[in-house]
Amino acid sequence: MSRAKRFLDGLLAETILGAIDYWRRPNLRASWGGPFNGQRNRAALFLSLMAKFQPRALIETGTFRGTTTEFMSKTGVPIFTVESVARNYGFARMRLSRLRHVHVRRGDSRHFIRELFQGPLRNYADQTVFAYLDAHGEGDLPLAEEIDLIFEYWPAAVVMIDDFQVPSDAGYRYDVYRSGKALTPAYIATEVNKHALQLFFPSVPASHETGSRRGCVVLAKTSTHAAALAAMPELRSLNVEIPAHVSVGQLISYWLSCCTQLLTFTLFPALLA
Ligand SMILES: C[S@@+](CC[C@H](N)C(=O)[O-])C[C@H]1O[C@@H](n2cnc3c(N)ncnc32)[C@H](O)[C@@H]1O
Repeated sequence: MSRAKRFLDGLLAETILGAIDYWRRPNLRASWGGPFNGQRNRAALFLSLMAKFQPRALIETGTFRGTTTEFMSKTGVPIFTVESVARNYGFARMRLSRLRHVHVRRGDSRHFIRELFQGPLRNYADQTVFAYLDAHGEGDLPLAEEIDLIFEYWPAAVVMIDDFQVPSDAGYRYDVYRSGKALTPAYIATEVNKHALQLFFPSVPASHETGSRRGCVVLAKTSTHAAALAAMPELRSLNVEIPAHVSVGQLISYWLSCCTQLLTFTLFPALLA
């Protein structure tokens, strides 16, 4: 038997095992504590975003066992979701098989996004699509490329990234990998600058959130949906410039601006009082 055939047989076996898991191990259906990591406020934020932007399609990277996909499917909007691990894919495929508007694929998220643009979402370039980016873990980190591709293909996209640092609230947990990479604003600075994106974070404090209390960020282009996101009470913007490559000149000018603000708002009023 050739190596390729053995590989394909292995994938098929794993996919079938995943489908069997769905029936034999129902306790696995509530992975990560439920939809959106069991976070009620995050689920409410998602529903508010749906109501406000009425996207034409939802893209999810990192299906895992389809827990959040199943929740998102209740909107009735077509969903395209991708999972790289065959056993998870088999589980999710079985779980979501009754839902005609949910399309589950196995593969790499970047390849999948390119295929969507060439296929089912090719006519949506000027439409709003919503993307939930959750395909991260140790090892390969596709996030930066996912953001780049999505805003290249669908400039009016609204993107939510799970497991992301909330700079103003340390109570929200976020991914930090052994490689030293972490899901922070600095990590996505190149894509943010390239596509002129704005970042919005949950305004609900982590202490009021349920479930795993993972942080998130919501992104949109300044020229499309940023103003509408800024008007949402569930979100707050981060008004900090995050240059991809910090030059000495930028550091000095940042430092001078901090000193000016300190003098203007703290020291002068104290001296005059
Ligand atoms: C945190 S889990 C996703 C959880 C899921 N979205 C939910 O809310 O239930 C991350 C998943 O992404 C998958 N993954 C990792 N890298 C990927 C890639 N490049 N393409 C597609 N899936 C990937 C992993 O196998 C894993 O199942």
